[in-house]
Amino acid sequence: MFLGKENFQSKRVRLNFHPREVFQYWKSDLKAMEKPSYTVRLMTEDDVPQTLDVWRSTGMQEGTHCLYTWLKVDPEAFQIAVTDSGEVIAVCCAVIHHPNLAFVGVYAVREKYRGCGIGKEVWDKCMKHVENMNVVINAVPDKVLLYRDKGGFPILETEWACVVNETEEPINHEALSNEVPDGVEIVPFQDSHLPAMFEYDLALIGYDRKLALELNCKEFDSKTFVAFKDGKCVGFGTIKRSCHNVGQVGPLYADDPAVAEVMLRTLIESHPDVKGFAMMTISSNVPANNFIKKIGCPTTEECPRLYRKEKVEVDKSKVIAHFDLNFCPY
Ligand SMILES: CC(C)(COP(=O)(O)OP(=O)(O)OC[C@H]1O[C@@H](n2cnc3c(N)ncnc32)[C@H](O)[C@@H]1OP(=O)(O)O)[C@@H](O)C(=O)NCCC(=O)NCCS
Repeated sequence: MFLGKENFQSKRVRLNFHPREVFQYWKSDLKAMEKPSYTVRLMTEDDVPQTLDVWRSTGMQEGTHCLYTWLKVDPEAFQIAVTDSGEVIAVCCAVIHHPNLAFVGVYAVREKYRGCGIGKEVWDKCMKHVENMNVVINAVPDKVLLYRDKGGFPILETEWACVVNETEEPINHEALSNEVPDGVEIVPFQDSHLPAMFEYDLALIGYDRKLALELNCKEFDSKTFVAFKDGKCVGFGTIKRSCHNVGQVGPLYADDPAVAEVMLRTLIESHPDVKGFAMMTISSNVPANNFIKKIGCPTTEECPRLYRKEKVEVDKSKVIAHFDLNFCPY
C-alpha cells in the first residue's frame, strides 16, 4: 500500500508518543480494567451499612444512623452504585426538603474506582431527582470549583463557610459553663417535647422538618436535650456516635449562647463512651467557635456553601452546630 506524505507523517507522529501520553493511555487502560460491572440504583435500608462504609472510607464524619433517618425523609434521595457481586462502591444523595428545596451530600466513590465515571453517574441520577429545584451543597475545599463551574452550583456563599471541628482525642468539656441562665431548664428529650421543638424549628428554619427532627431524636446511638423557658422551647441539641466513633454534636440550636454553652456541656457529658468529638459550626457564629476553642477541639477545614438558584437564609446566630453537613442547609 502506498503511503502518501501526509499519511506517512501522521503514522510517524502516532508512533512518536510523548512519555506523558504513554502514561495517560496506560492510566486510562488501567481504569478501564478496574472499572467493574455495576448498576446504579436507589439505596434501600439493607444497603445502609455498606453505603455508610463508602462514606466512612473518605475520612469524613457522619452519624451511624443518619442515613436511615434521611432515607425515611426522602426514600428516593440516595443513589448507589453496586457491583455485580453486591459491593456498594459509590453514593450520592439529594434529599428533597420541600417542593423547591433539596440538599446534596455524601458524594463519594471508593478510592480504587474513582476517575472511571461512576461518581458522575450517581450524581446525575440525583440531579434528575431534584430537577429544577433550588439545591444546596457544602463542598470540601478541593471540590468547590467542580461544583461551581461544572456541577451547576453557580452561587458561592462568601460571607461564611461551614467549619469542621473534630478530634479523636479527649476534649476538655469542663471548660464550658454548667450554670443554666435564670428561668431556663435543660431536660432530656421526651416525645411530649416534640410539639414545642417543632414550633421552635419551624420559626428558625422556615419550613416543616417534623419527620427529620423526630427521627433524629430517636436515632440509635443519639441523645437529645431540650431547653425550656416559661414552658417554651428556647433551643435543643443532639449528640450521636459518628461513623469514626466520636461523639458528634448536631443539631445544636439556641436563642441564647449561654444556654447553648450549658447544653453543649450536657450533651458531651451524656455520651461518655466515645473517644473524641466532632461539631460543625458556622464561621460567622462567634460564640459557637469560641466553645470549640474552649474545649480544645481542633478545626480541620472550612467547607464552602454553594447554591443552585438562591441562598437560603436563617438566623445563623441561633445555629451553634449544623444539623448535618450532608443532608440539610442548617
Ligand atoms: C468526588 C468523587 C465522588 C467523584 O467521583 P469519581 O468517580 O472520581 O468522578 P468521575 O470519574 O465520575 O468523574 C468523571 C468526570 O465527571 C466530572 N464530575 C464528577 N463529579 C461531578 C459533578 N458533581 N459535577 C460535574 N462534573 C463532575 C469529573 O470532573 C470528570 O470530568 P473529566 O472527565 O472532565 O475529568 C470522588 O472523587 C470521591 O469520592 N472523592 C472523595 C470524597 C469527596 O471529596 N467527596 C466530595 C465531598 S463534597
